[in-house]
Amino acid sequence: MLCWISVLFWTLLGAGSCDICPCERPELCSPIQTERDFEVFVFDVGGKTWKSYNWSTVTTVAAFGKYDPELLCHAHSVGARLVLKGDVHLADIVDKNNRTAWIKEKVVLAKSQFMDGINLDIEQAVEAGSPEQTALTELVKETSETFHSQIPGSQVSFDVAWSPNCIDKRCYDYINIGKYSDLLFVMSYDEQSQIWGRCIAKANAPLEQTLNGYDQFLALNIDRKKIVMGIPWYGYDYPCVNLTQDICSIEKVPFRGAPCSDAAGTQKPYSWIMKQVNVSLTGRLWDSKQKAPYFNYMDDNGQIHQVWYDDPESLCPKANAVMSKGLRGIGMWNGNILDYSDNPVSQEQTAEMWNTLLGC
Ligand SMILES: *[C@@H]1O[C@H](CO)[C@@H](O)[C@H](O)[C@H]1NC(C)=O
Ligand SMILES: *[C@@H]1O[C@H](CO)[C@@H](O)[C@H](O)[C@H]1NC(C)=O
Ligand SMILES: *[C@@H]1O[C@H](CO)[C@@H](O)[C@H](O)[C@H]1NC(C)=O
Ligand SMILES: *[C@@H]1O[C@H](CO)[C@@H](O)[C@H](O)[C@H]1NC(C)=O
Repeated sequence: MLCWISVLFWTLLGAGSCDICPCERPELCSPIQTERDFEVFVFDVGGKTWKSYNWSTVTTVAAFGKYDPELLCHAHSVGARLVLKGDVHLADIVDKNNRTAWIKEKVVLAKSQFMDGINLDIEQAVEAGSPEQTALTELVKETSETFHSQIPGSQVSFDVAWSPNCIDKRCYDYINIGKYSDLLFVMSYDEQSQIWGRCIAKANAPLEQTLNGYDQFLALNIDRKKIVMGIPWYGYDYPCVNLTQDICSIEKVPFRGAPCSDAAGTQKPYSWIMKQVNVSLTGRLWDSKQKAPYFNYMDDNGQIHQVWYDDPESLCPKANAVMSKGLRGIGMWNGNILDYSDNPVSQEQTAEMWNTLLGC
């Protein structure tokens, strides 16, 4: 369809080629332009389990796996956006020409795949006042300008740690990143990435700490309608150095200046956790201070582990806070890690996790 015009246009700009729409209906290759009041932002890491998502709630999918044209066509058929992953080594884009080249490459890629924006997932350490800090803010500004002008209605989102307080040495200019991007996805998980106190297993996303992070972002006057709460659909499995009165001491693994971190554990999907709790020593326990479930189990070598995770009971107050604080929406890392098999118990657990996104 008017392909030669497109070829001519892109040749004049020195980029791209004529891309064929992979969808049955060509209109499904148009960018999604409608804004929805409530965002449900899903990270997809690949495979075909997206077919089992509850698509009546999904508004944006960030494609962190291989590009899947079938996913693109399906997302567009229900009015959901599909966005690229954007990650770049910051030292390389302090140079303005390099930065522009990177953005151009991404927007050409997004257009050639009929995508609706980009999710900037820069989790690198940045020092306050450094050239990288300025370059990162410029990157967000220029990415937004380029995407918005090249792809009508496109969305530029940026992933931030659970708090703006230089967590994991990410001293970003959160105020301006908030200003230039369309959405901030707050990763309210890995909240034990830097443990300064006792080196023990704790919740991935304790309720009070999680909500405190939002108060900090809001205190910077970041528009609450740009803030999306990120929740974990995974937990941490810690081998205990010893377990005394249910306190699991963990190996000291330093991270970005802190002596102890969740890097002593292994991330486990909710699907694994729901099976493992059934063969645990304790069954599901509840920590009333952190407002999170956990359990202990023994592995085949006799090693005791403690597993901390989130389930509908711990997620409900978080999802409710999205509503009560008037945030833009909610999302998860990641959409693929529930049990999408046809086992009836799993199906029920999976449906409940999806339904919890909208509050309880
Ligand atoms: C530009 O980026 C490339 C990697 O894409 C890097 O090797 C090069 O050093 C960068 N140039 C400058 C001037 O930063
Ligand atoms: C458990 O292990 C930690 C870390 O090695 C140690 O500090 C603590 O004293 C130990 N506790 C007991 C009761 O053995
Ligand atoms: C776990 O145990 C419960 C209670 O016995 C059972 O209903 C459920 O099917 C089990 N779940 C899994 C995933 O095996
Ligand atoms: C999908 O989500 C909607 C909205 O929460 C809910 O009403 C519906 O029951 C869900 N569908 C399934 C299959 O769970």
